[in-house]
Amino acid sequence: MRLALLSFALLLLAIAMARAETGTLTLALGGREQRFTAAELLARPDAATITVADDVSYKRAMTYRAVPLLALIGAASEVDTLEARASDGFVSQIPMALVAKGANGGSIAWIAVEDAGAPWPPLPGKDVSAGPFYLVWEHPQRSKVGTELWPYQTVAITGVESPAHRWPQMRVADDLAADVPARRGQAVFTTQCMPCHRMKGAGAADVGPDLGQPMNPTQYLTAEGLRALIRNPKAVRTWPQQQMPAFDQKALPDADLDAVIAYLAHMAQR
Ligand code: HEC
Repeated sequence: MRLALLSFALLLLAIAMARAETGTLTLALGGREQRFTAAELLARPDAATITVADDVSYKRAMTYRAVPLLALIGAASEVDTLEARASDGFVSQIPMALVAKGANGGSIAWIAVEDAGAPWPPLPGKDVSAGPFYLVWEHPQRSKVGTELWPYQTVAITGVESPAHRWPQMRVADDLAADVPARRGQAVFTTQCMPCHRMKGAGAADVGPDLGQPMNPTQYLTAEGLRALIRNPKAVRTWPQQQMPAFDQKALPDADLDAVIAYLAHMAQR
């Protein structure tokens, strides 16, 4: 009987520990791995209250307790890219240069931290909040931060090489001129599409289909249909579990839309 009680207590302890594990943010930079709980981050002296006027995920103004990402990264800031992984398989590739610009008048990246004592509201159309860790940007317009560089439910941030170096198969042909739309489209794809899609295996996300293999959408969708789908997937087809967001003019100006389609078409030829 006593043994049964003891093993039951151990089981409860194991469950509690597993729960605590999922409530941590892992920071892996320059060969060093650190884990933070929400309470640890909230207790930092540089934790501050910030207001994000136009929050991409909540689609309204939000106020958070948050820690500056640049300070959290500290000395390891020589990395090229920060790969921010969310618990649902969404993975943003955030250029370190973009984060660093926050110290020189650019957009400022923060890790917003949900306090268990003051939980955030659920995300629009979902039954969960963006917490416990949500990467947000103050003054996103200053550096034109893409809508897909706001990973919510972030579980890990890892210092990595730039996507085009890690995965050369996603690169446009070397002899393409610098001002060709497909080349610019590669950059648009990296920030706005790669958080969910791969290109011929390139990428780290598991949310949407690979857009390069086995076939490329420019090979099986009409030009008009593809444009319409990116602008608003629900205008083309709809079902309850549909996940792809609509990219309006603000999220993807016409020039960026043209560029990303030119990139997809170019990649179909490679
Ligand atoms: C937040 C995740 C997410 C982002 C960001 C995203 N997509 Fe998607 N996309 C999906 C998912 C998931 C699907 C599968 C259908 C669905 O659930 O909506 C999809 C489907 C598609 C399809 C249809 C493929 C097919 O064969 O049915 C195309 C084309 C596409 N996405 C292009 C893009 C492009 C181009 C971008 C960047 C401008 C982009 N997506 C950004 C999640 C995303």
